[in-house]
Amino acid sequence: MTTTQPHFTLNSGVELPHVGFGVFQTPQDETADAVQTAFEVGYRHIDTAAVYGNEEGVGDALRRSELARSDVFLETKIWVVDYGYEQTLHAFDKSAAKLGVDQIDLLILHQADPQAFDRTIQAYKALEALLADGRVRAIGVSNFLPVRLERLMHETDIVPAVNQIEVHPYTQQRELQAFNREHGILTQAWSPIGGLRTYNGGDTPLANDTLVAIAQAHGKTPAQVMLRWHLQEGRQVIPKSVRPARIAENFDVFDFELSPEEIARIDELEQGMTMVPDDVDFDALGIEIPES
Ligand SMILES: NC(=O)c1ccc[n+]([C@@H]2O[C@H](COP(=O)([O-])OP(=O)(O)OC[C@H]3O[C@@H](n4cnc5c(N)ncnc54)[C@H](OP(=O)(O)O)[C@@H]3O)[C@@H](O)[C@H]2O)c1
Repeated sequence: MTTTQPHFTLNSGVELPHVGFGVFQTPQDETADAVQTAFEVGYRHIDTAAVYGNEEGVGDALRRSELARSDVFLETKIWVVDYGYEQTLHAFDKSAAKLGVDQIDLLILHQADPQAFDRTIQAYKALEALLADGRVRAIGVSNFLPVRLERLMHETDIVPAVNQIEVHPYTQQRELQAFNREHGILTQAWSPIGGLRTYNGGDTPLANDTLVAIAQAHGKTPAQVMLRWHLQEGRQVIPKSVRPARIAENFDVFDFELSPEEIARIDELEQGMTMVPDDVDFDALGIEIPES
């Protein structure tokens, strides 16, 4: 299947497809196949991260494909232990080498480190330098609350192009979304169909009665309804799957429209909590990002 999908224009002028493909928790040895399937289905944006340990798999899929480098939008994230100006410049080199590319389309900070926010600022300044050098095409952040975004924007020059945050019907972070919108920052919805809850044994919106009923009314699945809801509310989505049928299902969301009333019913499903705490002790996690 090849579908020409719409794009968001980021604040650096770069175009990002509406539906990307996530690879969080995709094992390194399954990543190339999953991404290859995604390319075949029509995805052109891949979202990985240094800490996922599978950037090489994404690079393998890109090399295997016959796609031109310019046809694929690669996004990756700097992990917190690599924050600091020089460390982050080196983290770019590690990720670019693992992906097998000279330029990364969108490079973001994975998370603020409130205990070492000065290092977080220095890391962002390194992203600004990489953007100025043309080694990345857009820069941004992930999991940044308004208070952290305010300080970041006060101490740096370039407004983040994106803030990648948890959004699905049970966790909507409306205040944060509004803050992003006010500053021209695109909200990228991670766990757009509630994935992290599922991984953690939580209640999944995939089985929610309202979503099941709306899905039945459109001859679609609850996952497709959730993805459509994000797109109609202006968020980019990056669903993850390792299963070809689901990879295709999650991309097949451009041929139906939810009514304003259906959107409102989904908005009402909010349960008001995020799975990501803002005060993690990253040093205690002991995670290192290996050299390429
Ligand atoms: N910035 C951050 O801190 C952060 C945090 C989490 C995620 N992310 C990014 O966001 C992406 C997506 O988030 P996510 O992986 O947490 O969750 P998700 O995409 O909402 O859900 C993925 C989960 O749902 C299953 N699934 C996928 N499609 C399905 C379908 N159509 N029907 C039923 N189940 C389906 C997957 O299993 P199978 O693989 O077995 O199909 C997997 O268990 C990640 O891959 C990553 O790129 C970023």
